[in-house]
Amino acid sequence: MKAKMIINSSFIIDKIDPRLYGTFVEHLGRCVYEGIYEPSHKTADKYGFRNDVKGLVRELNTTFIRYPGGNFVSGYNWEDGIGPRENRPKKLDLAWKTLETNEVGVHEFVTWANEVNAEVNMAVNLGTRGIEEARNIVEYCNHKSGTYWSDLRRKNGAEEPFKIKTWCLGNEMDGPWQMGAKTAEEYGRISAEAAKLMKWTDETIELVACGSSAKSMPTFASWEATILEHTYDHVDYLSLHSYYNNRNNDIKSYLAQSISMDEFIKSVIAICDYIKAKKHSKKTVNLSFDEWNVWYHSNEQDNKIREEDPWSIAPPMLEDIYNFEDALLVGSLLITLLKNCDRVKIACLAQLVNVIAPIMTEKGGDAWRQTTFYPFMHVANLGHGTVLRPVVECPVYNCEEFSSVPFIDTIAVLNENNNELIIFAVNRSIDEAIEFDIDAQGLVLADNAAFTELCGHDLKAVNTKNNAVVVPKEKTSVKIENNVLKAELAPLSWNVIRVGVK
Ligand code: AHR
Repeated sequence: MKAKMIINSSFIIDKIDPRLYGTFVEHLGRCVYEGIYEPSHKTADKYGFRNDVKGLVRELNTTFIRYPGGNFVSGYNWEDGIGPRENRPKKLDLAWKTLETNEVGVHEFVTWANEVNAEVNMAVNLGTRGIEEARNIVEYCNHKSGTYWSDLRRKNGAEEPFKIKTWCLGNEMDGPWQMGAKTAEEYGRISAEAAKLMKWTDETIELVACGSSAKSMPTFASWEATILEHTYDHVDYLSLHSYYNNRNNDIKSYLAQSISMDEFIKSVIAICDYIKAKKHSKKTVNLSFDEWNVWYHSNEQDNKIREEDPWSIAPPMLEDIYNFEDALLVGSLLITLLKNCDRVKIACLAQLVNVIAPIMTEKGGDAWRQTTFYPFMHVANLGHGTVLRPVVECPVYNCEEFSSVPFIDTIAVLNENNNELIIFAVNRSIDEAIEFDIDAQGLVLADNAAFTELCGHDLKAVNTKNNAVVVPKEKTSVKIENNVLKAELAPLSWNVIRVGVK
């Protein structure tokens, strides 16, 4: 099979916002406790954080981390997580039926995030709490000094403000499973007022309003339109959440799920721009895809844990073990985010450690990389600069859920600082390699390119702590002829090609 991509250095989608490579740490299962934090672990630092996990997070190069939830945040009192640890209360977390010890709170998390070179994205509780607590936490985190909350932060050990720039106005407030779930009118009002007070407290912050918790929600689209009617002038982003699965074990449809992500993004852009037009506004509200991933492997197991062992501390929950086909889809979803980087400025892979995560840990033992670690690591490390608008000529296929699915999903990023062109591509074909030509107009390509791939594995192959089966390999089958880059993409593969440019 043959395919071609034409790019031109003058035809661009947009610059990539570094927050596109975000992840998510929720007080859920073993994400915080036994994940990033385990004071008795042999690699623990002076704060109790695991150095082996920090090493993997740095390797992943996530730029931005959403915290502390998720469903958890809708019942969270942020004040429970500050001050001396011995005084912090233990509380029931009704979202996940667990016990929260509050050993880790905002100070600890900010310290940890600084160490892994990531910006914190803080969510406020608009479920069981309201605008007063929302403005107080902004004052606590970001006000320099001389007020009750800022001086309390200083007393608790942080002389300098945390300077948290991006804040989420609650989480999935349309979901009946959410503590303090709201109608669109109710959420529209409370989030607009919270946004006003938070920005009055610190005018430099940016705010994300909750979109629907999934595109499949019956109120999808009308929820977005209603809440934006209230919040449009006060917020900067609208959130999208989506999780994908291969429950039907249909690889052709599964690998085409990125089309569904793309359609979801386009629908939400349309709603934002409808309200912009309706309000005669000059301002554009962009998108924060702040929960996305594959999530289904652990569903049955989780139902049992919640029934049989409620109110335990950090039980293993949402521990999806990812396989090779999941890594291919995650690669394709990352490509979709890049294709939409003119409007999707923020995205968070949900989550980071143990809970539907690229990194797994064992209590008192090792930490390792799941299959999905690699595409994220490649894109987060290399995908910086400008996304070029591609024209792709490629054969297509039909499947149960979609028609005319291109066999190749691909995008090109021009990193102007490193003088490098990076191509990310998934070959969705089950049995055919693709001869892929990239005609790079307006750029002079260097003579050599580097080519890394994930391929040749059983679709259900997984990585375990002692056996890293799905790992990237370097490949030599890439040539440059007359400024056209020619590569062979193996069937069912994730591919990263890097070439210098002048
Ligand atoms: O990421 C897991 C959960 O999924 C989050 O807590 C919630 O926001 C979503 O439903």
